[in-house]
Amino acid sequence: MDFEKSAGKVIKDQEKLSFDFVPNDLPGRGEQTQKLFGLFKGIVSSNVSQNVFLHGPVGTGKTVTAKRFCMDFEDWAEDKGQSIDYVFINCRRRKNNSSAMWKVVHHFDKAFPDRGFSVEEMMEVVKEKLEEKNLHLIVVLDEVDSLIQKDGSDLIYLLSRFDEEELSPKENISLILISQKNAFELLEESARSSFKRSNRINFPKYPREELFPILGDRVDISLYPGSIDEENLHLLSEIAGKGGAGGGDARFGIELLEKAALIAEMDGRNEILAEDIRTAKGEVGSFLTEHKLEGLKEQEKMILLSAARCLKDEAYTTTGDIKELYKVICEEHDVKKLGHTRFWTYLNSLSDEGFLNTQTFADGSGRTTKVSLSDITAEKLEKKVEEMAEG
Ligand SMILES: Nc1ncnc2c1ncn2[C@@H]1O[C@H](COP(=O)(O)OP(=O)(O)OP(=O)(O)O)[C@@H](O)[C@H]1O
Ligand SMILES: [Mg+2]
Repeated sequence: MDFEKSAGKVIKDQEKLSFDFVPNDLPGRGEQTQKLFGLFKGIVSSNVSQNVFLHGPVGTGKTVTAKRFCMDFEDWAEDKGQSIDYVFINCRRRKNNSSAMWKVVHHFDKAFPDRGFSVEEMMEVVKEKLEEKNLHLIVVLDEVDSLIQKDGSDLIYLLSRFDEEELSPKENISLILISQKNAFELLEESARSSFKRSNRINFPKYPREELFPILGDRVDISLYPGSIDEENLHLLSEIAGKGGAGGGDARFGIELLEKAALIAEMDGRNEILAEDIRTAKGEVGSFLTEHKLEGLKEQEKMILLSAARCLKDEAYTTTGDIKELYKVICEEHDVKKLGHTRFWTYLNSLSDEGFLNTQTFADGSGRTTKVSLSDITAEKLEKKVEEMAEG
């Protein structure tokens, strides 16, 4: 078998679709990055350390923003003649204080033994290293709630008071704590007092408009040119805006993009189509069950069937097109047609219940409502509704 010939070419660089990849630009996170910079620039100008909290729901860019920030801040500080270094610790993998602290020592001494030293001893080693190299270290504790739940806030307390015993005015450790939950509330009072309330940076869910440039940038760097058109990129952003755990999750958007690209390739194409995106969504977890479809009124099924047929080769259709085809379908199935007002009422309720997505906007000639599908392929939906209408 000739593998090269059988597959389409969509993905140019799969590594750029991986969750560990750190892009240069983070659309939608300018404000959070500026806040971080505002808090940390004092490290360079007046040698003071900072302790900062980043929090927000799944896939809102907390980890990637912290990584990008540390990389860029290190460069910026170097230009100003200050050496900055950072260590990134995933606390879901390193759930206890000594394992997390070991990662910090290991950063400076690759041969450091992984047992036999207490947290305090390891801290002394780090202190010496920082003084010897005249470094300011940023310790990032990602998913820090795992660590706090397992081992309390001792490590955070010690790190945040790292410089306290010294008489020298130079502070040399800063902390970035990251979690979905409000980890500030999880901290014990003693550790909490090292954190100013104002040092909390919120990462809200991404609305569709912010996912569009995020996914657009990812398309540009990871796929071949012309792999997805703008309409379909809009569809992808819309689905990612709603789907996933609670919507607004960039990780889910990137996962969908990759899956849709693979589906297109397996089908021997060089372009992602709307149906590929819906199939990808369906594979990630479809909400539209047969049970839900069965509960629909006859008239609603006709509208849905019309929408499915209109959407077979398109990302979006209009309510006008659905209504035209709806009339034909009602005749086909011998069902009485609804009048204008009731047609709208039914269509809106299909949208409210999540069977269709509708989006109304003003254009030159008045208002247009665009309709799309996100949870199921148009082909599958058509087949299911037809079977039900006949059965
Ligand atoms: N603004 C953005 N621009 C480009 N890519 C982004 C952006 N925000 C998130 N991503 C990408 O989305 C994915 C998820 O982001 P990240 O891992 O930072 O989320 P998180 O908030 O840490 O989620 P979790 O709470 O699950 O750890 C990553 O692949 C990341 O590169
Ligand atoms: Mg994360």
